[in-house]
Amino acid sequence: MATRFEEVVGGTKANDILLKDFTTSFRPGYGRVFPRGTGGKLSGKGYLLPTFFSDFEKQIREMEVKSDDVWVASYPKTGTTWTQEMVWCICNDMDLERAKSTLIRLRFPFMDFSFMTNFRGDPNEDVKTPENEFMKNSVAFLSTLESPRFIKTHLPWDLLPEQLKSKKPKIVYIARNPKDSCVSYFHHCRLLEGYKGSFADFVHLFLEDSVSYSPFWDHVYSYWEHRDDSNVLFLTYEEMKKDLPSVIRRVSKFMGKEQLNEEDLKVLCDHLSFKSMKSNNAVNYEHIVKPKRNSADQHFMRKGEVDSWKEEMSPEDIEHFDAWIEKNLSGLDSHAGDSFRKWLATGKL
Ligand code: A3P
Repeated sequence: MATRFEEVVGGTKANDILLKDFTTSFRPGYGRVFPRGTGGKLSGKGYLLPTFFSDFEKQIREMEVKSDDVWVASYPKTGTTWTQEMVWCICNDMDLERAKSTLIRLRFPFMDFSFMTNFRGDPNEDVKTPENEFMKNSVAFLSTLESPRFIKTHLPWDLLPEQLKSKKPKIVYIARNPKDSCVSYFHHCRLLEGYKGSFADFVHLFLEDSVSYSPFWDHVYSYWEHRDDSNVLFLTYEEMKKDLPSVIRRVSKFMGKEQLNEEDLKVLCDHLSFKSMKSNNAVNYEHIVKPKRNSADQHFMRKGEVDSWKEEMSPEDIEHFDAWIEKNLSGLDSHAGDSFRKWLATGKL
């Protein structure tokens, strides 16, 4: 069955907030996307995406995938950039010179860029810089990259290119506690995505599965179901915070790379520390944040902590969140439900 797309119209509190406070000149509307006609396995809802997605859905579905591609997939604000940088450095034999001198969006492009907004770069045919080619069409740009290609996406499993299933490139999925993801997503959307509403309204949108790439649990579950596939590695932000060296060892093994010696391991952990990534212009998106910044404490690398939601959520937000988590987890089979509960309690999934 073909993928179905339903435009979001007003009429519910969440849809009204979305259309009033989260549409802009660069993203005028949203739709619900039902991969092959069906919604997420848990909620049955379609994934929320900007309306531009319908212009790119076929191109993505039919895209050529290569077996030596390396993909990092995630729900937004879960530590994607951190994971990309770790994966890239491991796969490129710790070429930190190149890592520091080339923007991550060019080394490890975001496939979805072109359907998130209407930015299409400079249409002038003469402007052939990689950055402009990427902006013109981020999906087509991938076909111009040399192998092995490094590709970032926030799409759920069911919206990935068809060939991923037969070519089986390596896919690293990174998951993060939904409360921290929500807080991080709110700050990101206020700063960079044109969200004009309050934090309380953003929490409402998040819990109504009404921010881009939601439903959150369907997204996580769509990859978790594939966690034992030989080409899939499922990581959590919390385990990276707790023990980065052991995650680096797991990623090296998964990528078929020799284990780093102790000295290189230390160098890589330093390179990947929050402090050094925050001051590294190749990964901190400063060129995008700077023109939008309206207070000195706004950064892409914002806090980098586990459980920082405790400082920002009201008792009411927490109560709603806990009820939402329980409702979603109780719909899972007991193995999946127990695994996700353990993750939320211990950080390990
Ligand atoms: P916070 O907003 O909670 O600080 P993504 O790359 O998916 O957009 O995720 C961004 C989140 O990852 C931000 O979370 C950011 O600070 C955090 N992050 C990025 N690099 C990190 C690092 N080296 N260590 C810890 N957290 C990091």
